[in-house]
Amino acid sequence: MTSDNEQKIAATLERLHGTQDLAGIEAIRVEALGKQGWLNQLMKTLGKMSPEERQVEGPRLQGMRTRISEALDERKATIEAAELERRLATEVLDLTLPAPEAPAGSVHPVSQVMDELAEIFADLGFSVATGPEIEDDWHNFTALNMAETHPARAMHDTFYFPESDAVTIPASSSEAVGEKRRMLLRTHTSPVQIRAMVEQGAPIRLIAPGRVYRSDSDATHTPMFHQIEGLVIDRDIHLGHLKWTLETFLKAFFEREDIVLRLRPSYFPFTEPSVEVDVGWRDVDGRRALGGDGDAPGHGWMELLGSGMVNARVIEFAGLDPQEWQGFAFGVGVDRLAMLKYGMDDLRAFFDGDQRWLAHYGFSPFDQPTLSGGVGARA
Ligand code: DAH
Repeated sequence: MTSDNEQKIAATLERLHGTQDLAGIEAIRVEALGKQGWLNQLMKTLGKMSPEERQVEGPRLQGMRTRISEALDERKATIEAAELERRLATEVLDLTLPAPEAPAGSVHPVSQVMDELAEIFADLGFSVATGPEIEDDWHNFTALNMAETHPARAMHDTFYFPESDAVTIPASSSEAVGEKRRMLLRTHTSPVQIRAMVEQGAPIRLIAPGRVYRSDSDATHTPMFHQIEGLVIDRDIHLGHLKWTLETFLKAFFEREDIVLRLRPSYFPFTEPSVEVDVGWRDVDGRRALGGDGDAPGHGWMELLGSGMVNARVIEFAGLDPQEWQGFAFGVGVDRLAMLKYGMDDLRAFFDGDQRWLAHYGFSPFDQPTLSGGVGARA
């Protein structure tokens, strides 16, 4: 019986060595060590043996089980290693192949123009500031010299939050404690002027781009649109600084030297004096192209932005002394700037999310605006 078993083991091990795949190994394992396997059958015979016989046969059968099980593991490891070697040798990734066509995103013209503006103004020493889109009526109106009864408030088509969402200035504040402020979606970026003056003090040189909201909708108005605010507060600032800054900015933005500006007296509650800035255009093949003197025949003026010297009352509202600090401010529609520069004619398409429009008007992420490389260069 013993030599029978030895033979069986030898045969099993030999078959194992001839096996080339994991399925074959599993079959041998079941045949030998499985519930119905021959080694188990042998184990069952232990019960009929005398205690003395069992003491000899028991450990011997256990030894056989161990030998077979170790041989199975060893063979399995060898085959797996060989399989890995084979895959490493045959499965190659050809890195010289071009990458497959991937869906490519693009930078929205509004983002691109904001980046261009940030680049231009950074060169003039302006930093970029932001403020909340959910604003209170003090920052959006009152501090900008629009008291509650001011008619300009009505002109803003404001989206108000319910009266019940009004905030009361807490006792811990340095501001008007106990005052109730109505919440709204900011109607312009001008409240960032107030926040900046209150938080940073003077001097200041910043731009503040962002979303603004008004209840208004047609081909040239959407309920949400983008503005960029400019604010300079320093000593001895005058209208000449404003004009030079706007001229420099618009020439850099439109990338032409023949940009001509016309400053018209106007009215904004937060500036005194206020000026509306028009830019000259000329007729080129039936289209209006920027540049040139708007007064010449075949030329004209286009309203572009609002600006002025910051009203002394606004400087006071923001906690600065208007005897010491003066400044200028301006506000421009970013979407409008984008339309003028890149030739879109329907503002609503900006916010439709239409892939075809985005593919056509969008920019490559590699089109980083730089002053040296051109702020609007298309790759
Ligand atoms: N906030 C104004 C608007 O939305 C635009 C504006 C005009 C901003 C004159 C200014 C300014 O800073 O000085 O209509």
